[in-house]
Amino acid sequence: MKLAFPPSSTDTTKQNSASSTSEESHVDAPLHSRDSDALTRTLDPVNPSLASAPPARPEAAEYQARREFLLFSPPAVGQEEIDEVVDTLRSGWITTGPKTQRFESAFAERVEAPSALGLNSCTAGLHLALQVLGVGRGDEVITTPMTFCASANVIEHLGAIPRFVDVEPDTLNLDPQAIEAAVTVSTRAILPVHYAGHPADLDPIYDIACHRGLGVVEDAAHALPARYKGRLIGSGTNPVAFSFYATKNLTTGEGGMLTGSPELLGRARTLGLHGMSRDAWKRYGPGGSWFYSVEDPGFKYNMTDVQAAMGLAQLRKLDRFQQRRRQIVEAYNRAFQDVEALELPVERSEVEHAWHLYLLRLRPDSLRIGRDRFIQELTARNIGSSVHFIPLHLHPYYQRRYQHAPEAFPVALSNYRRMLSLPLHPLLTDGDVDDVTGAVLDIVTRFAR
Ligand SMILES: Cc1ncc(COP(=O)(O)O)c(C=O)c1O
Repeated sequence: MKLAFPPSSTDTTKQNSASSTSEESHVDAPLHSRDSDALTRTLDPVNPSLASAPPARPEAAEYQARREFLLFSPPAVGQEEIDEVVDTLRSGWITTGPKTQRFESAFAERVEAPSALGLNSCTAGLHLALQVLGVGRGDEVITTPMTFCASANVIEHLGAIPRFVDVEPDTLNLDPQAIEAAVTVSTRAILPVHYAGHPADLDPIYDIACHRGLGVVEDAAHALPARYKGRLIGSGTNPVAFSFYATKNLTTGEGGMLTGSPELLGRARTLGLHGMSRDAWKRYGPGGSWFYSVEDPGFKYNMTDVQAAMGLAQLRKLDRFQQRRRQIVEAYNRAFQDVEALELPVERSEVEHAWHLYLLRLRPDSLRIGRDRFIQELTARNIGSSVHFIPLHLHPYYQRRYQHAPEAFPVALSNYRRMLSLPLHPLLTDGDVDDVTGAVLDIVTRFAR
């Protein structure tokens, strides 16, 4: 069912209620909020895209908007996940146990990792990895501002300092030259984020780490599965943290996995379960013993067998999911490739992108509206979208603490102001994809300069 566009006042009421549903369900999509302009104004007071927007061209062709709101990123969960979870619930063991072990082995095999540790989030994996590498009070960790807050919050949790450096203009991943320039005597580690699923340029990053004696913790929340120069992300001995949050390429509702060497993960495993020498399965499982000792004041970060059950079912579907993501990316690229106002996402020749996000960047010279109005126009056409990310140095906490000027990271800032993410998930039908491309092309036509 399509709606005539522009919609009547009754249609607009329906659209608003649809858009507020998606806003409640997605934590890293803050700009779905009806208050998004106010929020953006607070975080980015000089954002030019918030200037009062011009009206649409009256002569633009009639456009038919879809009737139901297209969610930005609903989970692709079906009968297989339900069956695996029910099997766990009936098994008599619902916390960390045999299914978590199976999921860890299957995941390690899929990404060719030496070993894997199931956790309750990617955030937990980043935190544990930094602590195991010895990052502590006063140390500096070089990372990107173009990421979700978890990547830097964990550095703060350790009393360490996130040293933001700017990103590369094409991939928006950490710029190795900027890393080199930011190393000081206090630098202890580098935390690259594989932004949107495109691997960061790992060779120069590991070269710097090697020469300067630094640790590296990769944030691969978006990068399952991805390859850099033929190597799967997560296949090395260094720590790499994956996310299974509800919107991710593989979901367990909430959850995460840390990959790396067995020695490193052994220490992370203990620290991730209160610092205890034995987990519950080893104590209460068949042949277990009640005794345990506390080696460190650890955290409660373990994955449950209920989460692992979902993960096992999702892992079996991952290749199908990825194939569909790639088809959608190709359809978007085909539809937008000749549109002057749109800059399309890149996939460098040496990588295989995980296509977690489809990033569109607007070219201000070709459009009479900015990003915020573009998102409002998409919402009015019943298409969900988001922004990844509000650069971390613009957030109130990081502003207060480090007082970076908004322009301190010019590539991150200028790209943030003109970026948005389109729906990209395996549940999208060909019709949904046409609705997205149709809406984007309609907006571009109506607001062309
Ligand atoms: C880049 C990045 N890093 C880390 C995280 C944290 O993942 P989790 O929610 O599994 O802790 C996210 C979540 O959205 C993310 O996008």
